[in-house]
Amino acid sequence: MTTITIDSVARSFGSVRAVDRVSLEIRDGEFFTLLGPSGCGKTTLLRMVAGFCALDSGRILFGTTRVDTLPAYKRNAGMVFQNYAVFPNLSVGNNVAYGLKARKIAKPEIARRVERALALVQLEGYASRWPHQLSGGQLQRVAIARAIVIEPHVLLLDEPLSNLDAKLRVDMRAEIRHLQRQLGITVIYVTHDQDEALSMSDRIAVMRAGNVEQVDEPRAIYERPATPFVAQFVGTINLLPATATIGGGAKSEISLGGTTISGQFPGVQTGDRVTLSVRPETIRLLVPGEDPPRGWIVLSATLEDTEYLGPVTRFKLRLTDGTRMQAMAITASALSGHIRIAFDPARVTILRQAP
Ligand SMILES: Nc1ncnc2c1ncn2[C@@H]1O[C@H](COP(=O)(O)OP(=O)(O)O)[C@@H](O)[C@H]1O
Ligand SMILES: [Mg+2]
Repeated sequence: MTTITIDSVARSFGSVRAVDRVSLEIRDGEFFTLLGPSGCGKTTLLRMVAGFCALDSGRILFGTTRVDTLPAYKRNAGMVFQNYAVFPNLSVGNNVAYGLKARKIAKPEIARRVERALALVQLEGYASRWPHQLSGGQLQRVAIARAIVIEPHVLLLDEPLSNLDAKLRVDMRAEIRHLQRQLGITVIYVTHDQDEALSMSDRIAVMRAGNVEQVDEPRAIYERPATPFVAQFVGTINLLPATATIGGGAKSEISLGGTTISGQFPGVQTGDRVTLSVRPETIRLLVPGEDPPRGWIVLSATLEDTEYLGPVTRFKLRLTDGTRMQAMAITASALSGHIRIAFDPARVTILRQAP
């Protein structure tokens, strides 16, 4: 149980900057997720924390101890990989015992700790089974048991669920989260799956091309994305180009989709080109004659297509200046053609960058 300090850590492979001076503070007992698309440097960063990849520059500390200069086995970090990495020629029990034997721990103590670790991952009584007799989910549980049996300070998981089928993946999310709470252990979890990241994490670092774009709690990542990249990578988003026609004061005006809207847009200056980031589920389609809630932004739009998706319906819209948008609602709608849409300015994020 410990804090992890990642201080200006960088690593290149040839001309590729896999990790570009990343700094993160991970709290004691935190479930911290590195989220980002394939190739953004998640695995490289995790392997540097584990001790399987050297740093070009920077430092890594567990608590107050500098660890990037220590070999992997002296860092007391448990690691779980995407592809199970269970030894096929060892029984489940011996797989889990592996790290303990390497540490020269007495036999009765090993047996006791292996049983406890297997119980923690719901595999009581599996010690004498063989890997080929197990399902993918069970193999990954063995890998997790093997990682936690050494009672590590930190647990590092690299896309541990990505080889499992969809239903099991969802069940295992809760299981891993539960295990982490039970052990009170600091976790760094790597995934490219936004649902996994949102549902499991205390905080998420969204990575892009070796850099961290935003570090925040899941709700803030989703509701207050810091950049167009974060907004687009996590969930579905409308990114609407707009221009501030009046800014600087308490009340400002923004020209959006051929309509001028006034409201409080702090920090926006006259003439600023901004991007409004609006989640589809925050948009309401108004029926003719319907008054929008007070203070909401109202825009004219053409409803071009409706897609029934089961739990929700997706509406494809076009604003008068041609900007495409989509809205999402749990109720279907009989609307078509020219309509009005409305959304709460409090649920809009104004981004200074272009998408
Ligand atoms: N051992 C390596 N040799 C050469 N290039 C590598 C190596 N490991 C990673 N890379 C490159 O570094 C970048 C980041 O890779 P990686 O950390 O695996 O990303 P992620 O886990 O987010 O998919 C990629 O461009 C990848 O091709
Ligand atoms: Mg990876």
